[in-house]
Amino acid sequence: MYGSTLGATMRVERLGPGDEDRILRAGHLFDEPPDPSAVRAYLEDPRNIFLLAYDGETAVGFLRGTELRQLKTERKQMFLYEIAVDATFRRRGIGRELVRFLLRDCRIRGYEEVFAVTDPANHAAVQLYRTTGAVTETPADRMFVYQLSREPDPVR
Ligand SMILES: CC(C)(COP(=O)(O)OP(=O)(O)OC[C@H]1O[C@@H](n2cnc3c(N)ncnc32)[C@H](O)[C@@H]1OP(=O)(O)O)[C@@H](O)C(=O)NCCC(=O)NCCS
Repeated sequence: MYGSTLGATMRVERLGPGDEDRILRAGHLFDEPPDPSAVRAYLEDPRNIFLLAYDGETAVGFLRGTELRQLKTERKQMFLYEIAVDATFRRRGIGRELVRFLLRDCRIRGYEEVFAVTDPANHAAVQLYRTTGAVTETPADRMFVYQLSREPDPVR
């Protein structure tokens, strides 16, 4: 587990094997209650990334993603599968910090790109992805792509 800080009390941490209790305690963040053995298997799979954001000791947001292999290159892609911030903690930069953490981590580990899929009507998600550097091929596209260079993250 390692992390980054955001303001005085906020921080983002990457969870790993053995951290399943922390996800189970953050059940209020998920649409459906997490299952202990599913959570354990998820965290033990090195292709998965799970980030948890805290305000003090309260879990206030999360992001999870899974890596994909390609045929054209051995560099991997990261599929940002899900991101959510507790409604009472939104618009404080937590979603942005979760995305930035993921981008930094994927850049360090040599991924070629990170991509996310969302409904173009989900204005908050669209704006979050665009303002953190994702692009789409067309304005109505559902797929948001972050092309990663091997250079350090310019936003930090
Ligand atoms: C999308 C979501 C994760 C954003 O989290 P957040 O912590 O509120 O986002 P941030 O405070 O970091 O916002 C970063 C930027 O994104 C944009 N943004 C975020 N929410 C926005 C909203 N409701 N309307 C317009 N722009 C928004 C803004 O550009 C914002 O920067 P600013 O506050 O300086 O203007 C949050 O709204 C959420 O949990 N939504 C429900 C789950 C969801 O739809 N997830 C995405 C699909 S899986």
